[in-house]
Amino acid sequence: MVSSISQRMVLRVVLVAVVLCLLVTSSIAELPRFKHPPKPQQSLNLLVVGDWGRKGTHNQSLVANQMGIVGKKLDIDFVISTGDNFYEDGLKGDDDPAFYESFVDIYTAPSLQKKWYNVLGNHDYRGDVQAQLSPVLNLKDSRWLCLRSFILDGEIVEFFFVDTTPFVDEYFTDPGEHDYDWEGVFPRLPYLSELLKDVNSALAQSKAKWKMVVGHHTINSAGHHGNIEELKHQLVPILEANNVDAYINGHDHCLQHIIEKKSGIHFITSGGGSKAWTGDVKPWNLEEMKLYYDGQGFMSMQITENNADIIFYDVFGNTLHSWSLSKDHNVVASI
Ligand SMILES: *[C@@H]1O[C@H](CO)[C@@H](O)[C@H](O)[C@H]1NC(C)=O
Repeated sequence: MVSSISQRMVLRVVLVAVVLCLLVTSSIAELPRFKHPPKPQQSLNLLVVGDWGRKGTHNQSLVANQMGIVGKKLDIDFVISTGDNFYEDGLKGDDDPAFYESFVDIYTAPSLQKKWYNVLGNHDYRGDVQAQLSPVLNLKDSRWLCLRSFILDGEIVEFFFVDTTPFVDEYFTDPGEHDYDWEGVFPRLPYLSELLKDVNSALAQSKAKWKMVVGHHTINSAGHHGNIEELKHQLVPILEANNVDAYINGHDHCLQHIIEKKSGIHFITSGGGSKAWTGDVKPWNLEEMKLYYDGQGFMSMQITENNADIIFYDVFGNTLHSWSLSKDHNVVASI
């Protein structure tokens, strides 16, 4: 009798433990995490480029060349790509020669032989999405890392990469002649709500001094595509609630810096990796608009505990615009 009661007790304890375990694990952010800390005693230095894969044409090679020069000067740790990695329709498979023609054989400078952290753009979704996510590409060129959504932990800064293409209604309701590869996204609504939940909890749990979110699509932009309302409604409240410093995107083929008055968030477009849309710009509040450049180029960031220096460059390597963000005002004055 005694032993059967204690057996039942043990069973109950085990059951409770299992249930607790399941609850805890399911509430933990599920975004994959990669660590890329800065070199000892140094800032974390990186380049950001977007909308690039055109086999070197439309000044892609000129941009690549200048990235190599700036990359060397800053001794960069890695490169971030804001998506639309391969035009017009992503990759056809993991053996698509475009991987070499638009990436491996273009970004050849020694300084660019670092990890490339990529998200997918809408053009990438028009091809074989699995191909870009495939480890086969990483075997062909170990720089390549592409996931739909993930966290890049640089200790002082965390980058939260968000798969923004599935948010855009038009690609589902009015795809035109484009064929999107939604495998892994359907059913769409649970995919989006899971993703938002994961991004929110990852941001909330982050202990990093700097929090930056990276996605392909524009949120605030005076460019051709302009503001993407789906993201304004669904993602921006999460950015605001978690004191995100910047949202970094491509999609509009320009270089752009907007400081939103309401939130203070910096909206940064680095989508000048190849074809530019000269003259395609809408009016914008000049108090918020710090730069709109309708040619090609890229961006660098140098991040320390207390400062982030950000610079936009054109195809000749000229500085178009630079600014510094500071965390010093957050420091409690020491006595
Ligand atoms: C390449 O960049 C130069 C300088 O900005 C520009 O004048 C030229 O039109 C660009 N070429 C293409 C094909 O976009």
